[in-house]
Amino acid sequence: MTAKKIAPSILAADFANLAADIERVAADADLLHVDCMDGHYVPNLTIGPPVVKALRKHTDLHLDCHLMVTNPQVLLRDFADAGADGCTIHVELGDPRPLLERIHNLGMRAGLTLEPETPFSAVEPYLGDIDVLLVMSVRTGFGGQPFIASVLDKVRAARRAMSERGLSFEISIDGGIKIENARLAAEAGVDILVSGTGIFAQPDPAAAVRQMRTTAWG
Ligand code: DX5
Ligand code: ZN
Repeated sequence: MTAKKIAPSILAADFANLAADIERVAADADLLHVDCMDGHYVPNLTIGPPVVKALRKHTDLHLDCHLMVTNPQVLLRDFADAGADGCTIHVELGDPRPLLERIHNLGMRAGLTLEPETPFSAVEPYLGDIDVLLVMSVRTGFGGQPFIASVLDKVRAARRAMSERGLSFEISIDGGIKIENARLAAEAGVDILVSGTGIFAQPDPAAAVRQMRTTAWG
């Protein structure tokens, strides 16, 4: 059984004080979720390899980069060189196999993700090629949106496929995760809870991480 993890999404941190905000959750978080948006795949522009490189000097936490970009192939080497530990790409871009292989060849963990409206069947052929399946529970682009509970069916389907096919990858969920719905996601079979505003918009982000963990998994 995989260890259960909480991944604060730094999209909701203070971009002018990223190192300080990360320090606040460092003792309690298992990894950091880094939302990289290019202004094309989504109508928002955030973090790229230079910021990952700068963060790398301030934290030993696993930096998991969620690439909401149209053209990941031109950026993967830069993310690896910057010190990213993992890169997750969107299945909506087309056959992900060459990119997943490239991510592995660059020494990173490979993740595959799907938008809320994309059916589970879209990722099914690639489950043997990934380390993490990231189930989006909001449409990508912005933090602070409401959780879409119907995507939990995809978490259950992934859990089933994993045991039926003897696969092992982690199941992560991203978008609208708060202390209030952490248990629901955990019960559906989620291993990694990604949360932005549910952690960094709270008065005590570290306490929010701890409370989310105990609420989800006891
Ligand atoms: C949305 C991002 C999410 C976002 C989650 O495009 O991929 O990772 O940071 O933020 P919250 O937890 O506030 O919904
Ligand atoms: Zn994300």
